Amino acid sequence: MRTGFAACLARAAAGRELNREDIITLLGAAVGAEADALYRQADNVRARVAGDEVHLRGIIEFSNYCRRRCYYCGLRADNARLRRYRLMPEDIVAVARRGAELGYGTVVLQSGEDPWYTAPVLAGVIREIKKLGVAVTLCVGERPREEYARWREAGADRYLLKHETANEELYARLHPGMSWSARRQCLTWLKKLGYQVGSGNIIGLPGQSLADLADDLLLLRQLDVEMAGLGPFIPHPDTPLGGEPAGSVELTYRVVAVARLVIPYAHLPATTALGTLAANGRQLALTRGANVIMPNLTPAEYRPDYQIYPNKICVNEGPEDCRHCLEGMVRSLGRRLGRGPGHALKQFMVVTI
Ligand code: SAM
Ligand code: SF4
Ligand code: FES
Repeated sequence: MRTGFAACLARAAAGRELNREDIITLLGAAVGAEADALYRQADNVRARVAGDEVHLRGIIEFSNYCRRRCYYCGLRADNARLRRYRLMPEDIVAVARRGAELGYGTVVLQSGEDPWYTAPVLAGVIREIKKLGVAVTLCVGERPREEYARWREAGADRYLLKHETANEELYARLHPGMSWSARRQCLTWLKKLGYQVGSGNIIGLPGQSLADLADDLLLLRQLDVEMAGLGPFIPHPDTPLGGEPAGSVELTYRVVAVARLVIPYAHLPATTALGTLAANGRQLALTRGANVIMPNLTPAEYRPDYQIYPNKICVNEGPEDCRHCLEGMVRSLGRRLGRGPGHALKQFMVVTI
């Protein structure tokens, strides 16, 4: 192991704040002794701050209409080959009820940016779902501050809005008609409105460097996020980035592990994108810093059409299949399913990392 690398890990173990150079060094862990030591340390911190519980957040992909044109995403407005669908409000609530019956403590409502769901319509959905006694996470993109406020009043607990990349120039290139500052503004509003805020980035975007990924983690620390979604880029053939290589699975593990050291109290999901690129990707992520999984609750008939990227896992399964699959996965790792809503870990922030 290189001495510089060992020194960075030791600084992290001593609870010292990692700087940009430290983070770049750790992200560059060589396969073998360095990566193994990084993963061990991330797993230790995960065990101390989050325990052995793996929280399941049931995700309902309720609309694949989107007004945006993100270069990487199969739901982008320009993709005419996608069959579009919308779940009606009462159907979303019915799916959420099924999620509550399956024991999920959180329901995540995710969609493209679809103005069909006005603020009052989504507020009504949130109010109904809250009657089921579960936490509600929204993931519906950029909206005006008043709409975020209205949904918070209706009972929404959390909001997931990934910053996608902290490199402003790269952000501008990949998001026509959008701006990094508008994204940042939304995250500030959400925090001030009292949401538990999740953000995160894509790993392996064309033109992205290790320094960019370090900046992503520094931004997540600055935002003081309660959750960070860190998943690999997967090229979709019907997008402008269709011919680009996928993000590296190994690099994604390293980003998740370093994230556990930089933002120890954040919930870190073992992402579906990782499970799509590697058959045991989610299991490995759970042993390298991650503590959450987001099983699909979307009704089977719509799953093939929520094609953010190709070959997404669980497209041919139903909600019950995923529930049982994950229970087995979590048990096989010697961990246990989380109980209750699994709110922010920061409320338990008493130990020194
Ligand atoms: N429309 C909302 C938004 O963008 O915040 C929520 C839904 S969007 C499909 C959820 C996430 O999918 C995005 O934040 C992005 O990181 C991820 N995503 C989209 N296309 C992807 C791809 N090709 N590879 C990996 N992740 C992708
Ligand atoms: Fe729309 Fe979100 Fe996909 Fe961008 S990432 S095209 S906003 S669904
Ligand atoms: Fe869906 Fe395993 S999580 S089948």
